[in-house]
Amino acid sequence: MSDVPASRPSSAARLSLSHITAQHETNLLGTVHGGVIMTLVDSVAGVVAARHSGGPAVTASMDEMVFLVPVRVGDVVHFTAQVNWTGRSSMEIGVRITADRWDSVGPQVHVATAYLVFVAVDADGQPRQVPQVEPENDEDRRRMREAEIRRSHRLARRKAIIDSREGAA
Ligand SMILES: CC(C)(COP(=O)(O)OP(=O)(O)OC[C@H]1O[C@@H](n2cnc3c(N)ncnc32)[C@H](O)[C@@H]1OP(=O)(O)O)[C@@H](O)C(=O)NCCC(=O)NCCS
Repeated sequence: MSDVPASRPSSAARLSLSHITAQHETNLLGTVHGGVIMTLVDSVAGVVAARHSGGPAVTASMDEMVFLVPVRVGDVVHFTAQVNWTGRSSMEIGVRITADRWDSVGPQVHVATAYLVFVAVDADGQPRQVPQVEPENDEDRRRMREAEIRRSHRLARRKAIIDSREGAA
């Protein structure tokens, strides 16, 4: 595992991946299966998390993901991902998914946006400290602010469910 610095700029681990969708990736309606897109989202976010943290990182959670438009066979799907926020061992990775239609030259369509939490782990699978992400511009600062809101909602929801189960027991 590489030496891990105290902080890293958000651009350091940013990643873009483009994928041409194929016939074998369809659902029963003939459009691209949502799970194909979600697998690529998880893979791209995983690479960003590993690069940012300088070692292995596992998916801890993925927020609700809303598909705004269908992806068609042959469309070129683009995944752009970066670290939005860092805690002690966890990182929120944001992934924006857009598509170029295979049969027209036009503006890219926004397919979905996903937010995933990855936890950096050591050789024993235990959480390890990650470099703090340094926002570099106003967009990065906005992403960090919004990631903090999502984190507080995730923690509050988790606590509320645990409290509710303990109350019911
Ligand atoms: C993710 C994992 C390492 C966390 O282990 P843990 O013992 O719960 O660790 P901790 O309670 O010390 O939490 C570690 C960090 O993870 C975060 N975390 C844990 N569960 C989380 C969840 N469900 N959502 C968001 N963040 C979570 C904590 O907030 C903490 O963040 P911080 O260090 O930045 O403050 C562990 O649950 C795990 O290995 N899960 C399986 C991951 C996996 O295999 N993914 C692939 C699926 S096939």
